[in-house]
Parts: sequence; C-alpha cells; structure tokens
Amino acid sequence: MARLSIHELREMKARGEKIPMLTAYDYPTARLIERAGVPIILVGDSLGMVVLGYDSTIPVTLDDMIRHGSAVVRATERAIVVIDMPFLTYQVSPEEALRNAGRLVQQTGCTAVKLEGGQSVVPVVEKLVAAGIPVMGHIGLTPQSVNQLGGYKVQGKTPAGAVRLINDALALERAGAFAIVLETVPANVARMVTEKVSVPTIGIGAGPYCDGQVQVLHDFLGFNPDFLPRHARRFADVAALATDAVQRYIAEVKSGAFPSAKESFGLDKARTMAAAAARAEQIANAEQVAESGADERPYGAGASARHES
Ligand code: KIV
Repeated sequence: MARLSIHELREMKARGEKIPMLTAYDYPTARLIERAGVPIILVGDSLGMVVLGYDSTIPVTLDDMIRHGSAVVRATERAIVVIDMPFLTYQVSPEEALRNAGRLVQQTGCTAVKLEGGQSVVPVVEKLVAAGIPVMGHIGLTPQSVNQLGGYKVQGKTPAGAVRLINDALALERAGAFAIVLETVPANVARMVTEKVSVPTIGIGAGPYCDGQVQVLHDFLGFNPDFLPRHARRFADVAALATDAVQRYIAEVKSGAFPSAKESFGLDKARTMAAAAARAEQIANAEQVAESGADERPYGAGASARHES
C-alpha cells in the first residue's frame, strides 16, 4: 500500500476536505490510529511531556525523536508521518538543521519534519526544502519558546500580533513549507491565515476554520484524568478503562480467579502419550528383573540400563 504524499493534503484543502491529524509516539498506538483512518500522524516533541514526563518539550533530544519516530513509521503503511525537530536541532544554523533533519528522514523513514517559528526560520526551511525534505511550519504558541513567551499563552491576540502571525505564515509558505500548524491563536486570526495561504493550516486551539485539526493523543484519549488543555476534547476515557482493568486484575490475582486452566499450560498430547509409554516400559522391565531375582530395586530400569552400556 502506497503512503499518502504531502500533495494529497493540498488537494484536500482545495476540495474543502478537513484534515484530521493526531500525534503518536509508539508502534501500537500508531498502528491503531492509522487503521482507524488518520491520514497524517505527527510524532510531536510533546513526547517529552505526555510520554517521558518532562514539564516542557525542551529536554527532548534528536535521539528521542529518532527512536519514537522510527517505531511510528514501522507501524504504518499509508499515513504521512511528520516528526518534530526538537529544541536546538535547527536554530543554530541551516547547515546543522539540514544534518539533523537528514538524520530524522534517513534513520526513521518519515515523510517530513516539523519545526517551530515564522520569519526567523525561513533560511532553515529553504535549506531543507532545497535538499528535498518536506517541512511543516508551526506558529502561534511555539512550546519550545515557552520561557521566552512567558508561559503557554494565546498568541496573536493584538492587531500587531495578528499581523505578525499572517506574515509568518506567508513567509513559511514562500519558503516552501507544505503545511502550517497554528497553535493557540484566536479563531478569527486562524481564519485569516487559512484564507491567505494556499497550503493547509492545521489548528490546535485555533478554532474551527483551519484546514485541519491536530490533537495530542494522550489528551484526546483521556490518559490524564487530572488535566485537559482548554483546546482539547476527551474522545475516550482511557484512564477510567485502564484503572478499572488494573483493579479487576489485582482482585482476581488475589482471589485466585486468575489465571484459570484456560490461561495455563499442560503437557501437549503427543508428549503426554510418549511419557506414558516410556513409563509403562520402565515398569515392565522392573517387574521382569524382580521376577528373575536379579535386582530388588523398585526403580532400577534406568540404572541397570546405564550399567549395561
Ligand atoms: O509536539 C506536538 O505534539 C505538537 C502539536 C501540539 C502540534 O507540536
């Protein structure tokens, strides 16, 4: 089965068909969400927060992204897989960015990379695109700059901020980005950006007018019962399901109800028959020896066989 290409996303925008994107970080979940029909999977550096337990995306390394990204690529056949370039793997120079993006593409087999920033990352986007690496842009709330932004706050709320966002999006499009994530921006600003660029916009906390939506899998499935970002919706309650399963397991182990015979193993039939035949022969030999008075030992067949050899 051929993988979808980035050009199909542009066609979806042209047809007015919304693009559903989800994050995944490992083989089983990537397999599940592809089989459910998701056309584009993001191995986001949100990995750091929802899987690795950091309090920001900043500690995530290129090796983390390669390990998790390659599991997602191995699990999928059809979906476009985009992998985030982590903090400081593309900001130092376009040359270093190309080396790092090259490692992501070569070592994982992903289709594209994503990086954060607008006009400031144009030289990087141009360099990667010129080398044949598709780039997804990411503007608005850019979590790798959380310390500079002063927290996870809505971006583009002022007229000047909205204009900056539009200019960032136009600059990314000109540099060759094939799609742009808009994170945590007012819905009407996202609408303006979406109307101004020809490439698809993918929103997260950016309202309903974007060409597509992306959600972080662990928010979406309800892994964390104590926290849900304002922009997210729980489409399932995995925390409740998993807690119930674990509690039933504990109770059944303690009561002895698990494992039952059905979950246990016996000898297989052929081995059981062979063992029974060998045992019968042993007894017959022992009886013969006893009758001849040569040996009084009750279980001497094996021993006498050894003596004879
Ligand atoms: O890292 C991530 O999961 C992301 C999405 C929130 C767009 O960048």
